[in-house]
Amino acid sequence: MKHLIDTQSLSKEWLDNLLSLTQRIKQKPQECKVTGKILASIFFEPSTRTRLSFESAMLRLGGSVITTEDARADSSATKGETIEDTVKVLSYYSDIIALRHFEIGTAKKAASVSSIPILNAGDGAGEHPSQALLDLFTIYEQGVDLNDFTICMVGDLLHGRTVRSLSCLLAQFYKPNIIFVAPPQCKMSEDVLFILEKHQIKWRNEVDFKKAIAESDCIYMTRFQRERFADMNMYESVQNTYQFDTSCLPLIKKNAFVLHPLPRCGEIAVDVDNDPRMLYFKQAENGVFVRMALIYFFLVLNS
Ligand code: NCD
Repeated sequence: MKHLIDTQSLSKEWLDNLLSLTQRIKQKPQECKVTGKILASIFFEPSTRTRLSFESAMLRLGGSVITTEDARADSSATKGETIEDTVKVLSYYSDIIALRHFEIGTAKKAASVSSIPILNAGDGAGEHPSQALLDLFTIYEQGVDLNDFTICMVGDLLHGRTVRSLSCLLAQFYKPNIIFVAPPQCKMSEDVLFILEKHQIKWRNEVDFKKAIAESDCIYMTRFQRERFADMNMYESVQNTYQFDTSCLPLIKKNAFVLHPLPRCGEIAVDVDNDPRMLYFKQAENGVFVRMALIYFFLVLNS
């Protein structure tokens, strides 16, 4: 495995090793080093967690980072340079690339010409594999039986790459029961449902948000992806459909937990944050450990 582009090219053995490596790094972060190596973090779309946790991961491993402020505005892409040419050049300047782009398929395109590993940090409404891995790690850490648990995914399932990647990852390697909660305009797409069917995963669409969260062991909230709506009226009509607030706390299972890839835009009320079942900040923290494991895998274990 030379790159991390999507969840479908992973194997169970690789995944198990990555989860154990992440756990090891979380316990003893100083044990893994990539001293002297350089990460290029190239983001054509805004990011706080993915970008800064990749950069923090590299620095914590003893490596260095080169970056552009905003690749969409500052890189030679504004002069018309193709992603292939950019990546070929970056292969001489760095040892590994974290790439985020607004178009589906860009990470794959970049990987096709890159001599160094490409880590897909999100390609439009396509995939976000490192997020799915950190989501999985956070679920796994809770000690749930991944072959016997219910997860509901709530919000913009059409444009949200995190829920797309997480659904595929879970379906390929485990036996979750998945409940999708979305307005009709933002339902999970057929390509993902096809993968669920292929792996005989139990899934359903549910219109009743409160019913879905009451049944679930993991509640995965997402924001409506404003930037991906062609029609702003449609965005405004769906934007406030679901909110996890204090009225939801008594409804959910004692051992359930709530995740969100963040940023949140009102779909989780701030006043539930102190409930111990709200794990989204822990999830964001795990992003650093999972990305340390990914960088360490590609630069040390895989080389
Ligand atoms: C997500 C993304 O960029 O897809 N954020 C993240 O990486 N943590 C989710 C989002 O932007 O809504």
